[in-house]
Amino acid sequence: MRQKITVVGAGNVGATCAQELARRDYADVVLVDIIPNFPQGKALDMNQAGSVIGYEPRMVGTNGYEETEGSDVVVITAGKPRSPGMSRDDLVTTNEAIVTSVTREVVKRSRGAVIVVVSNPLDAMCHVAKAVSRFPRRRVVGMAGILDTARFSAFIAQELDVSVKDVTAMVLGGHGDQMVPVVSATTVGGVPLAELLPKRRIAKLVERTKFGGGEIVNLLGTSAWYAPGAAAAQMVDSICLDEKRVLPCTAYLEGEYGIRGLYMGAPVKLGSGGVEEIVKLKLTADERTMLRASAAAVREVVGILKRK
Ligand code: APR
Repeated sequence: MRQKITVVGAGNVGATCAQELARRDYADVVLVDIIPNFPQGKALDMNQAGSVIGYEPRMVGTNGYEETEGSDVVVITAGKPRSPGMSRDDLVTTNEAIVTSVTREVVKRSRGAVIVVVSNPLDAMCHVAKAVSRFPRRRVVGMAGILDTARFSAFIAQELDVSVKDVTAMVLGGHGDQMVPVVSATTVGGVPLAELLPKRRIAKLVERTKFGGGEIVNLLGTSAWYAPGAAAAQMVDSICLDEKRVLPCTAYLEGEYGIRGLYMGAPVKLGSGGVEEIVKLKLTADERTMLRASAAAVREVVGILKRK
C-alpha cells in the first residue's frame, strides 16, 4: 500500500510541496484547504499533469479531514504569508489560531503521523503544533533550515561561479533575521569557505541569506514558495523513505547546543520515526554566541503565544 501524505494549505507553498511529492510517485497525497473548491481544483490539475510527466499517485483535494485519516506525514502550510514590511513574527497571532485548529483536526485522524510545520513564524508554530498534538518531540519538526541553507548555498555558488551541488553549507538557529549561517561548517568541494573568500565577502553572503526571505517578499509582494515547497518535500522524503538524511531542521531542543525547551534549527537525522537524532556540530565561539542570540529572539516570539 502506498503511504499517505497530507498537505494542509493548498496555497503557494502547500501546492508546490504537494506537486513535488506527487512527482516522486511513492505516496498518495491529500491536499486540504478551507477555500471551497480550491484544493479540489489543484488536485485535479496535478493529477492530470501526471499523465504528461508520468506519475500516478492519487491526489485528493478536500475541505474536510476525513480523507486525511491514517496519514504517515502531515505537512502544515496553512496560514497567512508575509507581505512587504512584515516580519515572519508579525504573523504570530493569526497563524497561531490557524495552526491550532489544523493540528487539532489532523491528530484526531492520524495519531501516529509525523507533523512537518511550515507556517510562519516557524519556530513558534512548531511549539503550537507540539502543544496541541501532544506528540513526542520526534514527531513534530519544522522546515526552515533546508530553505535557509539552500539560499546560502545558492549565493555562495553564484559568488564563486561553481555548481551549487558542490556547496555544503549549514544554517542553524531560528528562522528569522537572527539565523546562524555556520561558516565554519561550509565547504565547496571539500575546501572551507573561509579559504575561498575574504571575510568581508562572506559577511555579505551571510547578510543576504539572513534577509533572503524578505528579499523575495519585496520582489513578489508575498513570500517565496518554490524553494520552501521543495524543502518541505525533501523532509517528507527522508521520513517516508526512511532515508535518515542529516538535514538542518527545526527541532525541539532539550539541552542540545545548550538550549532547553525551545524549537530551533539544528542538524537532524530524519527517518521513519521523524527526528531520530539531533546531531552535534562543533561551533566556534562566535557561532555559539549568535545561536544564543537567535534562541533569545525565538523565545520572545514564543512568549507571545497564547498556548506555550
Ligand atoms: N485550514 C486550512 N487551510 C487554511 C486555513 C485553515 N484553517 N487557513 C488558511 N488556509 C489556507 C488558505 O486558504 C491558503 O490557501 O492556507 C493557504 C495559504 O496559502 P498562501 O496564502 O498561498 O500562503 P503560502 O505562501 O503558501 O504560505 C503559507 O507558509 O511559508 C509559510 O510564511 C508562509 O505562513 C505562511 C505559510
